[in-house]
Amino acid sequence: MNAYILGLLLLISFPESVTPQKYAYVSVLSSNDFLIPAKVLAYRLRKLNSSIPYIIIVTQDITDYSISELKAQGVIVHNDTKIDTPYIATHKARKYQYTKIRLWAMTEFDVIVHLDLDVLPTRDISTLFKCGSFCAVFRHSDMFNSGVFVLKTNETVFHDMVQHVQTAESYDGGDQGFLNTYFHDLKFSPMYDPTGNQPTCENFTMSTLSAKFNYDIGMYYLNNGRFLVDPDIIHYTMGPTKPWLWWTYPLFDLNWQWLDARKEMEQGSDADVDTCIALAGINCLLICVLLIIKAVLEHFVVNMTTDSVSDLETHMVSQSIYLFSVWFSMKLAHQSAHPVPAWVFFTSNTAWTAAILTSTYTRLRTGVDVKVKSILSCGFFTMLSYALSWLILTQITHFNTRVLFAILFILAQQILVVTYYRYALILRPCRQQIHKYQILPNNHHVA
Ligand SMILES: *[C@@H]1O[C@H](CO)[C@@H](O)[C@H](O)[C@H]1NC(C)=O
Ligand SMILES: *[C@@H]1O[C@H](CO)[C@@H](O)[C@H](O)[C@H]1NC(C)=O
Ligand SMILES: *[C@@H]1O[C@H](CO)[C@@H](O)[C@H](O)[C@H]1NC(C)=O
Ligand SMILES: *[C@@H]1O[C@H](CO)[C@@H](O)[C@H](O)[C@H]1NC(C)=O
Repeated sequence: MNAYILGLLLLISFPESVTPQKYAYVSVLSSNDFLIPAKVLAYRLRKLNSSIPYIIIVTQDITDYSISELKAQGVIVHNDTKIDTPYIATHKARKYQYTKIRLWAMTEFDVIVHLDLDVLPTRDISTLFKCGSFCAVFRHSDMFNSGVFVLKTNETVFHDMVQHVQTAESYDGGDQGFLNTYFHDLKFSPMYDPTGNQPTCENFTMSTLSAKFNYDIGMYYLNNGRFLVDPDIIHYTMGPTKPWLWWTYPLFDLNWQWLDARKEMEQGSDADVDTCIALAGINCLLICVLLIIKAVLEHFVVNMTTDSVSDLETHMVSQSIYLFSVWFSMKLAHQSAHPVPAWVFFTSNTAWTAAILTSTYTRLRTGVDVKVKSILSCGFFTMLSYALSWLILTQITHFNTRVLFAILFILAQQILVVTYYRYALILRPCRQQIHKYQILPNNHHVA
């Protein structure tokens, strides 16, 4: 009983020393396109340290489906409204917003580590909670990056920030610029030592963080794969190369690490099998639709046949059909499908669309029927050339060399594959036809 009272007294008189600090990881989700990276990050954080809760603030654009998917990953979902940037007239993109300042008002926690959804922690990062009242990483200038930062929640600071939203300058029109103005003296703060070996400077309440807590993949690729320290947090900057976009494989090698995390998260679920079945289904459907269109056109379109198709025309047509097929197949594949099935799907769609359309053209324009054998050989030739390019690219270790080869492959594809289509689906069938009719020279335009 006495011990109990003593404990209670201790708790009242020294709340700081007895009550453990409440920590949380927090992210903001304002686009459904970021659902998959949010789930992967949630999975990774829980795996690294399940004792720290992960909260995602979702804004009004997020669907109920996304919310339930997040909850299934153990995420605590907070609904909140977006805080627009005062520069909204010129910065309409979703990334330009100030919603992150709501973190300072989340006083149910003492310290928060904020993470953008395009980061991947590689090991436990809970030492970050001890770095100070505000900490961030300066990567390549005297502006810090707001993808990863640590803050002590504080209602006073929050209200002060809200008052400054309209007046404080933002160099990029978004929260990063605002926070850089608000914490402009962070750059003079010492660097936080997570090992605890350096004496901490008690007079500094803020600290800068080592670049390993917010490793910019842009640095890695710009330097041909050198300068990769051993990052605790990889930040997939560079908009069009995000690791959940299937076509970034196998060019951007750091994306494989993210893919491993995604596969771990999806283990046990049939997500990837479902994707494969769905993609194969769309693929078959597309081929059927194309064959029907071909048959219908060949039956009903009035005769456009001519005896002499110019070289220029066959060149232009085969090039255009191929480019259209590539574009169309890119559009058809869901952007965050798994890379291997997505590539197979894309390749096969491109091959069959181009082959069927080119042979339709030949029939309509010259009246010559292309043999199924030729169509099949074109399709398989395309798929084989893609598969070979893919395999070679995955074997190249240096990024620059890989980019060089990728460009060469794209050019070679455009020249070789299109030449093959033109030859096998337009020129050769016509020549064979003419050859056949040479026995009856007067009939060769009757076809
Ligand atoms: C998890 O985080 C806590 C801090 O809240 C820390 O004390 C603990 O060592 C971490 N656990 C692991 C496995 O890193
Ligand atoms: C959050 O908002 C969504 C959709 O607007 C709604 O379905 C959900 O119930 C809300 N959750 C909470 C906790 O308010
Ligand atoms: C909140 O911030 C204000 C202004 O910086 C400071 O005076 C106050 O001590 C802070 N409160 C806590 C609980 O840290
Ligand atoms: C902290 O500030 C006080 C007074 O401003 C000063 O006396 C003390 O030496 C400082 N401590 C460190 C570690 O710089």
